[in-house]
Amino acid sequence: MKKLIVMLIVAAFVGTAFVAVAQDKGPAVIKMDKAKTGVVTFDHAKHQADVPDCAGCHHTGGFEKCSSCHAKKADGKKLAYKKAMHDNCKGCHKEMKKGPTKCKECHVK
Ligand code: HEC
Ligand code: HEC
Ligand code: HEC
Ligand code: HEC
Repeated sequence: MKKLIVMLIVAAFVGTAFVAVAQDKGPAVIKMDKAKTGVVTFDHAKHQADVPDCAGCHHTGGFEKCSSCHAKKADGKKLAYKKAMHDNCKGCHKEMKKGPTKCKECHVK
């Protein structure tokens, strides 16, 4: 019995390590240019280091583009794209008292 438990624990470890290596972390830097207000340069890699929980942003468990669910206009419980992005980005910056909250600190022309 003891042996079986040890084997299960080892198997769980190996499984986790494999997932960590296999996971696609996406681009290191993402340029977002939808807003007339200016281009947002998002340092994805730095945020992944500062915010280790992917689900803090990719809140559905998958990694599809935010705009694949959050359309220009709100749809039922799904916020409009602009509000989803602002609530996510600015919301965390305000909560952590770190990171920009003013338009021109994110949007650069
Ligand atoms: C913390 C960073 C951040 C701050 C601060 C911020 N924004 Fe944004 N905003 C974004 C991101 C990210 C997007 C999504 C941009 C994209 O996909 O190109 C966005 C999207 C937008 C869009 C919509 C683009 C579209 O048509 O879908 C507008 C308009 C906009 N912002 C204006 C503003 C204004 C005005 C302010 C200040 C009151 C502001 N933003 C502050 C990050 C920020
Ligand atoms: C601070 C917020 C944040 C964190 C934390 C974060 N991401 Fe992202 N990630 C984004 C945003 C925003 C995009 C751009 C999505 C878009 O273009 O709509 C993105 C894009 C991606 C993409 C590319 C999606 C595509 O189809 O273009 C992948 C893959 C990805 N992230 C994986 C991860 C993984 C894995 C982690 C955790 C190790 C992680 N992300 C952590 C915000 C974040
Ligand atoms: C597969 C569809 C889907 C994707 C992809 C998606 N969202 Fe959402 N989002 C939803 C739905 C549905 C809700 C409302 C209910 C809920 O919270 O699950 C929501 C709610 C939100 C909220 C409101 C607060 C909250 O957590 O309830 C924010 C902010 C948000 N999304 C930001 C984002 C960002 C940023 C991305 C991309 C990194 C993203 N979403 C990707 C479907 C999606
Ligand atoms: C869950 C928390 C969290 C979310 C969500 C988040 N950020 Fe940040 N962001 C931070 C923290 C923490 C810092 C400060 C990092 C530092 O000072 O070392 C930061 C810093 C920044 C900076 C300053 C320059 C840099 O790259 O360090 C920019 C620009 C920025 N964030 C843009 C964004 C945008 C755009 C989004 C939404 C797509 C976003 N952030 C979402 C936590 C977050």
